[in-house]
Amino acid sequence: MESKITAIAVYTPSNRITNEYFEQFIETNNEWIISRTGIKERRFADKNEFTSDLCVKAAQNLLAENPGTSFNDVDFILVATTSADQVMPSMASQIQNRLNIQNCGCLDIMAACAGFVYGLILAKGMIASGTHKKVLVFGAEALSKFTDFHDRTSCILFGDGAGVALVEPSERSKIFNAVTGSDGSHGKDLYLSQHASVINGEAIESNGKIHQNGKVVFKWAIQTVSVKVKELLAKNSLTLDDLDWIILHSANMRIIEGVAAEIGAPMDKMLSSIEYFGNTSSASIPLAWNIAKNAGKIKPGNKILMLGFGGGLTFAGVIIEA
Ligand code: UT7
Repeated sequence: MESKITAIAVYTPSNRITNEYFEQFIETNNEWIISRTGIKERRFADKNEFTSDLCVKAAQNLLAENPGTSFNDVDFILVATTSADQVMPSMASQIQNRLNIQNCGCLDIMAACAGFVYGLILAKGMIASGTHKKVLVFGAEALSKFTDFHDRTSCILFGDGAGVALVEPSERSKIFNAVTGSDGSHGKDLYLSQHASVINGEAIESNGKIHQNGKVVFKWAIQTVSVKVKELLAKNSLTLDDLDWIILHSANMRIIEGVAAEIGAPMDKMLSSIEYFGNTSSASIPLAWNIAKNAGKIKPGNKILMLGFGGGLTFAGVIIEA
């Protein structure tokens, strides 16, 4: 059985945080943040708003924006997140309950900023195997709850938001071949640990906040993503010209520009959510999709390459038809 994305929607908290906000408590400024990252603002969830809340609101938006769509026969929920409300129960189980979806498998995916694409790949596999027919894939984060606001190299980056895609059977495949991979030797270059204080045998600080070795991740991202985009195109017998849009995880506009230069793609093919939402990890790809959809850019039949990368370090890429 082939599959396709039949709907996509997002939710972002209303609380807008401009770059000037950070000038109050760390040594930074608007110009540095914009020039080094491309971020102008981001959204933070309220004190009593958590990742599961953002997911439920994104799902409600999907229903509101797609009349005739129902979650009655959804038979699996996948939630990609690194900022779950708690370790157990899963976000997926809470969403199942709050959306009142019965007879539904539930699973959270921990693949950091690559999680949403991993989710799409898993959903395609479930439908292909015939075990499931209607899968909700969320990418959602309340990263502000896990941000170290004393660390100026990372706190200016992160934002909160949620995206959700509905994946259903299709007569013709609209979710094509994928690439996935990982280099766990870089584990301590991007981590969030609440308990263990060792990664790969090396001591780490485990204070429940995000730690990032920005320079190392930046270099790894440009090199790895450039190679994997080319590999993904080859795996699908496509060229850059066959793609309408490329959505890389929005970690830093300079990474997007670096990869575009490396693969020879024009910047107007690159979609992102970095400018107004910052780095929202697993939510960044659906947020970028939604911005482009609202701007009238993404049209039915468009071919879109999506590639997420981050903590692991891991990556996942897939080409889809809108
Ligand atoms: O989402 C998962 C994947 N994540 C990524 O892909 C993130 C990858 N990394 C990055 O995006 C970038 O490395 C950062 C945005 C995190 C940092 O940018 P950078 O251009 O690599 O900066 P840097 O770490 O090389 O720092 C340059 C200078 C340093 O000062 P000195 O040592 O040159 O005097 C920093 O101390 O900028 C300083 N700096 C800041 N200055 C003002 C670092 N953070 C700030 C800040 N405001 N917020």
